Amino acid sequence: MTARIIDGAAVAKKLRQDIAAEVAAKKLTPGLAVVLVGEDPASQVYVRNKGRAAEETGMKSWTHRMPVETTQDQLLAMVNQLNNDPDVHGILVQLPLPKQIDSQIIIAAIDPAKDVDGFHPVNAGRLNLSLPCFVPCTPQGSMILIREVEQNLAGKKAVVLGRSNIVGKPVAQLLLQADCTVTITHSRTKNLPEECRAADILVAAIGKPAFVKGDWVKPGAIVIDVGINRIDDTANPGKSKLVGDVDFAAASVHAGAITPVPGGVGPMTIACLLKNTMQSAAMKAGVA
Ligand code: GUN
Repeated sequence: MTARIIDGAAVAKKLRQDIAAEVAAKKLTPGLAVVLVGEDPASQVYVRNKGRAAEETGMKSWTHRMPVETTQDQLLAMVNQLNNDPDVHGILVQLPLPKQIDSQIIIAAIDPAKDVDGFHPVNAGRLNLSLPCFVPCTPQGSMILIREVEQNLAGKKAVVLGRSNIVGKPVAQLLLQADCTVTITHSRTKNLPEECRAADILVAAIGKPAFVKGDWVKPGAIVIDVGINRIDDTANPGKSKLVGDVDFAAASVHAGAITPVPGGVGPMTIACLLKNTMQSAAMKAGVA
């Protein structure tokens, strides 16, 4: 079997077009404020892409760059300013933050009505209770890609690798809401290959390059690779390349469908961020 490749870039492009159309039809001007502390190169790329995508969708975007030595109080002051700015509908503080800053304190300071990342305890709690909330972007995008392949998820066995607050836990909640039988695995899980081989849907979000081997994948399974790992490109000495958490070539032999890296979940994360920002603006305008 050779897996169908799920084209996240194409799905994300369509979603961004739909968002742009809705923004125009509802006469909204959603505003997204992104805060970047420090100079992490990967974060700089993400932040630039987010700003560009927002503007292409008819939104306003602001990037607030703060030096790596920024204190927690200085960042809290920035968050407060954005909470009080009526033109700002979405606030995203790029993670990870420098070590002198407690990211949970920063996340908790964001107005939950502007928390387009869906990381605030109010939104995380509401997701847990299956109440309306801002759904974290990578899990939301992952679910859209799964549904591109399979609409009827009820009773499917889903295995999530990773238990982070950003991906593992929320994607498990969404799979549960879709009536999957969900297993969350992590670094202390016993017999991980065996757990994975039981999965009709396998979501890898552990941040280890090519960690999931081909024979961990059940024949016909849907494989969603959330990993974005930069490694040396052995074919091009001195160059690097992006790979996922799944050994793509080996897994493609077994899987029914698989997301590539790059071009899979990554573009969906940004599209869902725009969706959440639009939703925030629409709610404030009373047209949600
Ligand atoms: N760093 C990596 N992914 C994310 C994300 O989705 N949101 C934020 N705020 N930071 C991140």
